[in-house]
Amino acid sequence: MMPIPGESNGMHTDFLSYRDRVVIVTGSGRGIGKVIAGQFAAFGAQVIIADRDAERSQETARQIVQNGGRAEYHPLDLANLDQFEPYLAMIIAKYGKVSVLVNNARAGGRTGFLGETAENWEKVLDVSLRASLFLSQAFIKCVSKEMLPASILNISSVSSTLVSTESAAYHAGKAALENLTRYLAAAGGPRGVRVNGVRLGFIVQDEHQERFYSEGNREYRQLAELTHPLGRVGSSRDVADAALFLCSERALFINGENIVVDGGFSTQDPFVLLMKHVKKST
Ligand SMILES: NC(=O)c1ccc[n+]([C@@H]2O[C@H](COP(=O)([O-])OP(=O)(O)OC[C@H]3O[C@@H](n4cnc5c(N)ncnc54)[C@H](O)[C@@H]3O)[C@@H](O)[C@H]2O)c1
Repeated sequence: MMPIPGESNGMHTDFLSYRDRVVIVTGSGRGIGKVIAGQFAAFGAQVIIADRDAERSQETARQIVQNGGRAEYHPLDLANLDQFEPYLAMIIAKYGKVSVLVNNARAGGRTGFLGETAENWEKVLDVSLRASLFLSQAFIKCVSKEMLPASILNISSVSSTLVSTESAAYHAGKAALENLTRYLAAAGGPRGVRVNGVRLGFIVQDEHQERFYSEGNREYRQLAELTHPLGRVGSSRDVADAALFLCSERALFINGENIVVDGGFSTQDPFVLLMKHVKKST
């Protein structure tokens, strides 16, 4: 095989390996975070399940280990900033390093405009925004030269730019998170830590697949599929694939970027989308 220009040889058996990496995924006891954690483990990483839900997180770690991966649950409450530095110190003492931090957790509810409360606002923003800043700050602070390459990934949403009236806190939080990604990229870069984000579209988590694909949900599902150029909605695996790439050594010059993972949904003209729907229903 001819070598690829710029490469020392033409063989790439280790295109995406996390064998020597320690990866922390917040909110990975369930949902998208669980699959992200599982995929990092499948590519060789030692994975840390950083969540406050002990039961689900222990089960997540158990399943990853059962599949041949390396995962351990270390409880973390993202609402408690004082925990962050000791938490990272504990991980480094136990595993020798930290390599990747995925800020994935979310909290709070969909309140609607008039239902929004200061309590919910704080809950949402504490976990998705404030914790993403201060955990990243603690992470960047403790990464030494010997631990590089290191990177951070923030999990955002198309809700950062496309709004409904479901949750003011969620929309505001995700919009701010994407700018925080750029800020952290500038702060982390000089220390060798890249920071990127993924802006997710319609993702059906594994736990919701059964309901989403049930007969009773057919009309809603068809509408969701119709509004996606690829004719399908996203899965947690789609998110994990983007995460694996962005945090890897195949993306060393990508920094401060929020990559859209929505199958092209948000690229479309809403009027054309509406016409597609009207045409289908007539
Ligand atoms: N599901 C989607 O369609 C979708 C779409 C766009 C973006 N996202 C984003 O993807 C990410 C994951 O979403 P999900 O639907 O899998 O979430 P989820 O609600 O299923 O899981 C969130 C996890 O965060 C944990 N958590 C909550 N508060 C915590 C705290 N204080 N400390 C530690 N852990 C805490 C929970 O225990 C849970 O395990 C979120 O950032 C979300 O905004 C999801």
